Amino acid sequence: VNTTLITNIGELVTNSSAIGDGILGVRSDAALVIENGKVAWVGEARSAPAADQLIDAAGAAVIPGFVDSHAHPVFAGDRAAEFAARMAGEGYSGGGIRTTVGATRAASETQLEANLVRLKQEFHRAGVTTFEAKSGYGLTVADELRSLEIAARHTTEVTFLGAHLVAPEFAENPNDYVNLVAGEMLAGAAKTAKWIDVFCDRGAFDVDQARTILTAGIAAGLKPRIHANQLTRTEAVQLAVELDCASADHCTHLNQADIDALANSNTVATLLPGAEFSTRSPYPDARALVDAGVTVAIATDCNPGSSYTTSMAFCIAVAVREMRLSPAEALRAATAGGAKALRRTDIGHLSVGARADLAILTAPSFVHLAYRPGVPLISKTIIEGKTA
Ligand code: NIG
Ligand code: FE
Repeated sequence: VNTTLITNIGELVTNSSAIGDGILGVRSDAALVIENGKVAWVGEARSAPAADQLIDAAGAAVIPGFVDSHAHPVFAGDRAAEFAARMAGEGYSGGGIRTTVGATRAASETQLEANLVRLKQEFHRAGVTTFEAKSGYGLTVADELRSLEIAARHTTEVTFLGAHLVAPEFAENPNDYVNLVAGEMLAGAAKTAKWIDVFCDRGAFDVDQARTILTAGIAAGLKPRIHANQLTRTEAVQLAVELDCASADHCTHLNQADIDALANSNTVATLLPGAEFSTRSPYPDARALVDAGVTVAIATDCNPGSSYTTSMAFCIAVAVREMRLSPAEALRAATAGGAKALRRTDIGHLSVGARADLAILTAPSFVHLAYRPGVPLISKTIIEGKTA
């Protein structure tokens, strides 16, 4: 098959204002042609060119595939008991990460990869066409490198998060662990990873430690991103802007100076509503960010502790219901926003020349993603022109 025509699209979301209306570039009665894994033509269904293969969207909406720019899918075990205890009134701290570190170190490479593949399949069934994958549950040189190598077999967006928590062996000497991360661990990770990330928050790493690690990562050729202000407000967002991080993630606790700094930067605010949902925490002020002109992304944060979901649609529904984004703003954040958070221009939109990464819904409008929470609405996911 050389060309595929998707026709009878009830509502095509392109994220291109040159093609359609509003912030989503929406077009009705549209068709789209895929050639060599890319979008080759978009326009009125009745003027569509002939193609080798036909996909009938049956009047449903078609959207750019979700870009999940923040996930921790390389781990073993789960923390269902911790979640249940939290729902009964316990608080969340990053300390549960240690439980997953123990399970991850004890798992075989085959087990770790099988768990990642299971989550990848969930992502694909749920319309995710690109996902980021962080290490961070190994916290030794060998265990971190193993996680990165597994991740790299399944995504190009591989992130070195050796600075997820101080490894238990270094509890008495956290700065020795910082030096290990910025030294020997980074030297190995830089061969496999594209990004470097630090959990800069209460109980994890402070702003000075984060600066040391991210600066070393940049010098080693990695691009920076940061977990910022999930549990408490620190200068982490300011550091993100200072270092031109592609993204500052969580942004649950911000002051006006943080919002202004983001608005005047090239740093995306990546919001992770699954984390606030699953830790019963207050949601970030998405409206203030959008209204200030900050580019916002929505991602799953998929991990066994604070947000064990692979559903971008669920995150959109929460962002609309609880964070007061419009359905269009939330979908844009989950597609084009995620692409910008990964500094990718080839995904997150369906203009001619973009990668043919898209999802066909079972519903006539993208609004149903928020309007029908918890209902699987993806009928087909296409990645680089091929059914996933
Ligand atoms: O993004 N905040 C740090 N890391 C994860 C949680 C990891 C865990 O609890 O296992 C997060 O929420
Ligand atoms: Fe995270």
